[in-house]
Amino acid sequence: MDNKRIIIAIDGHSSCGKSTFAKAIAARLGYIFIDTGAMYRAVTLYALENGAITMGIVDESRIEAMLKYIDIDIRFNPARGASDIYVNGDLVEGKIRTIEVSNLVSAVSSIGAVRQKLVAMQQEMGRKGGVVMDGRDIGTVVFPNAELKIYMTADPMVRAERRYKELTAKGDNVTLEEVYANVVSRDKADMSRAISPLRKADDAIVLDNSTMSVEEQMSWFDEQYRRVTAQ
Ligand code: DC
Repeated sequence: MDNKRIIIAIDGHSSCGKSTFAKAIAARLGYIFIDTGAMYRAVTLYALENGAITMGIVDESRIEAMLKYIDIDIRFNPARGASDIYVNGDLVEGKIRTIEVSNLVSAVSSIGAVRQKLVAMQQEMGRKGGVVMDGRDIGTVVFPNAELKIYMTADPMVRAERRYKELTAKGDNVTLEEVYANVVSRDKADMSRAISPLRKADDAIVLDNSTMSVEEQMSWFDEQYRRVTAQ
């Protein structure tokens, strides 16, 4: 494929397979994959473990004050063919995807100072191009000039079923109803928050993968990529 190393921004609803899709694209193109949701989850986990969230109440000013002590590092792990996320040197990859963190991350990601810190890190990571970044505000805020913007979505029940399978396969004790409620409430929170809400960038192309296999999504992507890099 082409040598031009572009920025590919992937935004969309939670649990619609953005990371799986983004990871596959990055592997295909030899690009770096950056899961920005993992960064918001890592801040949420740190806040939880350090007393800034108690009984589900998020103490915004405490989180703001602790931001300078949170050092996030994303390192490529060749064994997994994906990146691992570290907070202050600790590998947290396995701890950031629990239902507890999922239920709190929308509140943490709506804090302006949190977004400011993480957006600046993301812009620095993608500065040289050759990245596939997935999140909620990549095409609208982080890289408004990205050459290729994809807005992903899928039916909420399809998304809940996919996430439920993933969680139960890991041994998490959750119900489908609980996961569905989380998917719907995160959609609402992500789309209605005051700062950088999830929305489709005007120049993004929509991918609804409710009934698509990963292979079908990849051939759809190849077509979009060819179109953009041929220009
Ligand atoms: O992609 P994810 O489900 O792991 O993301 C977790 C949460 O982080 C999601 O509910 C919204 C927030 N998020 C965000 O606000 N901006 C991003 N660029 C990525 C994620």
